[in-house]
Formats: sequence, structure tokens, C-alpha cells
Amino acid sequence: MAEFQKQLQRDAAACEALLKQMIINMAGPASRLNAAMNYAVLNGGKRMRAAMVLGAARMAGDASDAAKDVVKTSDAADDAADAAGVNRTNGPLRTAAAIECLHAYSLVHDDLPAMDDADMRRGQPSCHQKFDEATAILAGDALQTMAFEILADDATHADPAVRVWLITELAKSSGLAGMAGGQMLDLEAETRPFNLAQTSEMQMMKTGALISCAVKSGGIVGGADSALLAAQAAYAKNLGLAFQIADDLLDHDGDAALVGKPVGQDEARGKAGFVALMGAQAAAAEARRLIDEANQALVPWQGAGDYMKNLALFAITRKT
Ligand code: IPE
Ligand code: IPE
Ligand code: MG
Ligand code: MG
Ligand code: MG
Repeated sequence: MAEFQKQLQRDAAACEALLKQMIINMAGPASRLNAAMNYAVLNGGKRMRAAMVLGAARMAGDASDAAKDVVKTSDAADDAADAAGVNRTNGPLRTAAAIECLHAYSLVHDDLPAMDDADMRRGQPSCHQKFDEATAILAGDALQTMAFEILADDATHADPAVRVWLITELAKSSGLAGMAGGQMLDLEAETRPFNLAQTSEMQMMKTGALISCAVKSGGIVGGADSALLAAQAAYAKNLGLAFQIADDLLDHDGDAALVGKPVGQDEARGKAGFVALMGAQAAAAEARRLIDEANQALVPWQGAGDYMKNLALFAITRKT
């Protein structure tokens, strides 16, 4: 587990370094918007979706033995790329950064007064608190388009068909049938009862879809074969639902200082969730069952799946 935590930190740091470089290099007269984007995407965060992309890509490399260094670039190469002012041609890392941009946008909009009305995010004032509502809306918009811009760049993958695949997958998982649609249902659930099937569907859409996208995209850019892609997809589906149950549990009994966002708001607003439907204990047991099932899908890959398995366990044991 200690090795896992170290690797998670390395993945988060690599993703953050790339995001920082990209945001700093963005030009334009709207510096307030640039500052709000910077604030929203570089203000901490566990970077678990980035880790899912990088872990899935590394797993593909380890499993096929064909692209061992798909994620790792040497420091010298990175420094050289920096000095030359060119993009690092690191597909998995760029894909991870794109998904973190999309995720950061979803959080900025989720916190708005019209949605969850949350004042804190990642231990600091939420974006609309730090700036203002209009700027937060625009920062979300621009982070969303930035995600697609990153994926469309040929530094992400040499094959245009792969880039179109990544773009389509991210669009689907964040749009009507994915995150945005799930967020709509989440708001509707404040005013009418949702049964278990409806709650499950809402959670899979608002949170699970982007998590599935992260894992599958990592597999694709890492060159996974069809058997591994299918296993990673099965893993991600269960992980996605468990991730939101764990988030709901933290809202229910977590420590606001640790989670870095308000707690107790879900119950106060009458949000639908497994905790509301079945109670905290049963919800935690369900999350555990889902993670066991997720990890079961990776068993044939033995040690190559360890990082992903630890990531899944961390999703339900984290306190932040
Ligand atoms: C929070 O996600 C929102 C959900 C979809 C549950 P994370 O818990 O991954 O948030 P950060 O990125 O670490 O802040
Ligand atoms: C997930 O749900 C939000 C998104 C899909 C952005 P929550 O509303 O529970 O997320 P937190 O708890 O505010 O991070
Ligand atoms: Mg919400
Ligand atoms: Mg929220
Ligand atoms: Mg929550």
C-alpha cells in the first residue's frame, strides 16, 4: 500500500505539472478567466481520474510487454521538451490532464448556488466564492473545451482515429447520457422520490460515466488488447458507482476539514443516494461488494493489476 501511495502521488504530480504548464502557456486578454481556470484545476484534488488513466495505460503496457515506458518519460527528455517549448508527446498523461479538466469543470458548476450551493472545495473557497458566479460559469466552460482541445492535439496520439475515439468517449460520458444528465437527475431527485434502480442510474451517470471514460481511455492510449479493455470496462463500471457511494458516505459522516468541502448537505437538501435509501452501514457494504467485484475482473492479469486494485480500494477507504 505504501508503494501504491507513492505511485499515486507521482501520477498526481505528473498530471499537475502538465496542467500547470498548459494553463500558464495559454494566451489571451481574459486574464481573470485564466486565473479562475488555474484556481479551479490546480487547487489540489486527489487526481484519482488521472491515476485511473495512467494506471490503465501502464497496465496495458505491462500486460502486453509492448509499451513498457508508455507513461514514463525520462527527466532528461522532459527537460529537453520544456526547454524546446514543445509539447511532451505523452499520450496517457495528456489524456489524464484532459479528464481532470473536465472533472474540475464539473465541480465548479456543481458548487454553484443554482446547483449544490457549496462554499468550499478542496479545502478552499469554491470558484464562485473566490471569483464570482459568472466567472465560475465561464471557467467551467473553458475547462470543458480545454479538455477536448488537449485530446484533439496530435501530441495525444499519432493516430487520428484514436483521438476521435477519445473525444467521442469523453463527450458521451460528460453529456446528456453521462455526467450532465446525471447532474440533472440529481437535482430532480431533490423534489421527487428515487428508488434504488433510479438512484443507481443517476450515480452511474453523474460520476460513473467519467470514471469509466478515464479507465477505458487509459487502456486505449496504452494499447490494451480487447480482453484487457473488456476487463477494465467491467472494473470501471463497478468502481464508478462505488466511488459515488463513498462520496455520499463522506458527506454523511466525514470530517469537513479532511474532505475539504461541506458535509451534511446531501441530507439537508434531500439528495438521493444509497445512504439515504439504505442507511450508511448497508451503503458501505454495497460499496465494498462493488469494489470486490471490480477487482475480480482484473484477477487474470495478476500483479499487473495491483495498482488499479489498490486504487479501487482507496476509493472506498479514503477520508478525503
Ligand atoms: C468529487 O470527486 C466529486 C464526485 C464525482 C464524487 P473527487 O472526490 O475525485 O474530487 P477531487 O478531484 O479529489 O477534489
Ligand atoms: C458529484 O456529486 C458531482 C459531479 C458529478 C460533479 P456531488 O455533488 O456529491 O459531489 P461533491 O460532493 O460536491 O464533490
Ligand atoms: Mg452535486
Ligand atoms: Mg456537490
Ligand atoms: Mg458529494
